[in-house]
Amino acid sequence: MAHVLAATQASPLLWYVTRAMAVAGYVTLTLAVILGMLRPIARTTNERLSWLTDITHTSLTVLAALLIAGHLISLYFDPFLPFTLLNIVTPLHEPYRPLATILGVYALYAIVAVLLSSWLKNAIPHGAWRALHYLGFVAFGLVTAHGVMAGSDSSEPFMRAIYGASAGAVGFLVLMRLFARPRQAASPAVAGRR
Ligand code: HEM
Repeated sequence: MAHVLAATQASPLLWYVTRAMAVAGYVTLTLAVILGMLRPIARTTNERLSWLTDITHTSLTVLAALLIAGHLISLYFDPFLPFTLLNIVTPLHEPYRPLATILGVYALYAIVAVLLSSWLKNAIPHGAWRALHYLGFVAFGLVTAHGVMAGSDSSEPFMRAIYGASAGAVGFLVLMRLFARPRQAASPAVAGRR
C-alpha cells in the first residue's frame, strides 16, 4: 500500500530511464550479435577490418551489459514497478507481466554466461567457450520476446521497427551462417584468429 501511495506521488522519471536503458541495451546487444556473426566474413577480407570488427564486437557487448545493468538498477528504484532484488535476479514472484519478465531473467543469465566465458576464455577449453558463447543467440531470442511482451512501447511504430529490423537482421545472418559458409581466409595470420 505504501508503495502504491509513493508511486502515485512520485515522478515517472525512473520509469522513462528504465525504458530508455532497455531499448538502448537491446539495440546495442543486437549490434554486438550482428558484428559477432560478421567476424568470419571480416576475417576473409583483411586483417584491419577483422581487428576493427573484433574490437567493436567486444566493446558493444560491454556497453550492452552496462545499459542492461542500468535498466535493472533503475527498475529496482522505480516506485511505479514494485521489483525487489530477488524479482530481478531470480524468476520468482514477478510483480509485473510475469511470463515476459521471467524471459528477461533467463536472458540475463544467458548474457552473464557469455560475458563470464569470454573473460575466462584462456582458462577454459575452447569447445566450452564456444558452446557458452552461442548462448548469445539464446539471449537475443529471449530478450526480443521479453521486450515485445513486457514493454510499454511495444505497440509504438518505432519499437516495432526496432524489433523487426533486429530480428530480421539476426535471422538473415543465422541463415547465411547455416547455409553459406565463407571461402578460405585471406591470410593464415588472419584466419588463425578466433
Ligand atoms: C537481460 C537483458 C534485458 C534486456 C536487454 C531488456 C530489455 C528490455 C526491453 C527492450 C524492454 C521494452 C522497453 C519498452 O518497450 O519501453 C524491456 C522492458 C522491461 N523489462 Fe527488460 N530487459 C532485460 C532484462 C530484464 C530483467 C532481468 C527484468 C526484471 C526481472 C526486466 C524487467 C523489465 C520490465 C518490468 C519491463 C517493462 C518496462 C515498461 O515498459 O514499463 N528486464 N526490457
